[in-house]
Amino acid sequence: MTEKSRPVTEAHFRYVQEHTQPEGPLLRDLRREAAEAGIPTIAIAPEQGSLMQILLRLVGAREVVEVGTLYGLASIWMARGLPQGGRVRTIEIDDAHADFAERWIARSDVADRIEIVRGAGRDILPTLEDDSVDAVFLDADRESYGIYLPECLRIIRPGGLLMVDNAFAGGRVLDAECDHPSGQAMRTFNDMVAREPRLRGVIVPIGDGLWVITVLG
Ligand SMILES: C[S@@+](CC[C@H](N)C(=O)[O-])C[C@H]1O[C@@H](n2cnc3c(N)ncnc32)[C@H](O)[C@@H]1O
Repeated sequence: MTEKSRPVTEAHFRYVQEHTQPEGPLLRDLRREAAEAGIPTIAIAPEQGSLMQILLRLVGAREVVEVGTLYGLASIWMARGLPQGGRVRTIEIDDAHADFAERWIARSDVADRIEIVRGAGRDILPTLEDDSVDAVFLDADRESYGIYLPECLRIIRPGGLLMVDNAFAGGRVLDAECDHPSGQAMRTFNDMVAREPRLRGVIVPIGDGLWVITVLG
C-alpha cells in the first residue's frame, strides 16, 4: 500500500507556526507599518520565509530574482540567506510599493544585498542572461506565469531553484468550476510544472501553497 501524507489541518498549521523561529523585530515592525500605511497584507508568512531562506543556503545561491516586491519582506528574508556579495534583484511595478520597500530595505541589515528593479516582470525577465541566476521567486501577476515559466527555465542555472507562491490560489485551484482568472492561471501553471521534464518540484502546503522546484541539469 502507498503511504499517504496526512491532510494538513488548521491545527497542523498552528503547530508549524509555533515551531518556526520568530521573524524578529525588523520584519514585525515592517509588517505593522505597511499595514498601517494601507499596503495590502499579502506578503509571505514567516514559515515560508524560513523555508525559502534555508533552501537558498542549501543551493548556495548568490543571485536571486523576485517578481513582486510589495514592501520588501520576502526580499529581506531571502537576502539574509545569501553570502556577502550575494544579491536579490526584486521587480516591482507599483512605484508606491517600491518607494516604501526602498526605505525599509535601507534600514535593514541586508541593504547591500537587495536591488529594487522598477517595472513589469514580463519586461524585465527577458533582459536577464541565460543561466545567470541561482534562484527565482515568483509572487505577482499570476496571469503571466505561462510566460514567466520559460523565462525562468532560461535564466536559472542547472541545479538552481524556482519558488512560486500561491499554488493553491486561495483554494481556487481545487474548484474545477471556478473561472476566476488567477485561479485558472494558477491551475494552468501547476499543470505545466508537473508535466515539465526539466523540472522537479513539490507544492509545500504552507502559506497559500509554495512551489519548491529544482531545475534539473
Ligand atoms: C503578493 S505581492 C508580493 C509580496 C512579496 N513577494 C513578499 O512576500 O514580501 C505582489 C506585488 O507584485 C506587484 N506586481 C503586480 N504585478 C506586477 C508585475 N507585472 N510585475 C512586477 N510586480 C508586479 C504588486 O504591486 C505587489 O506589490
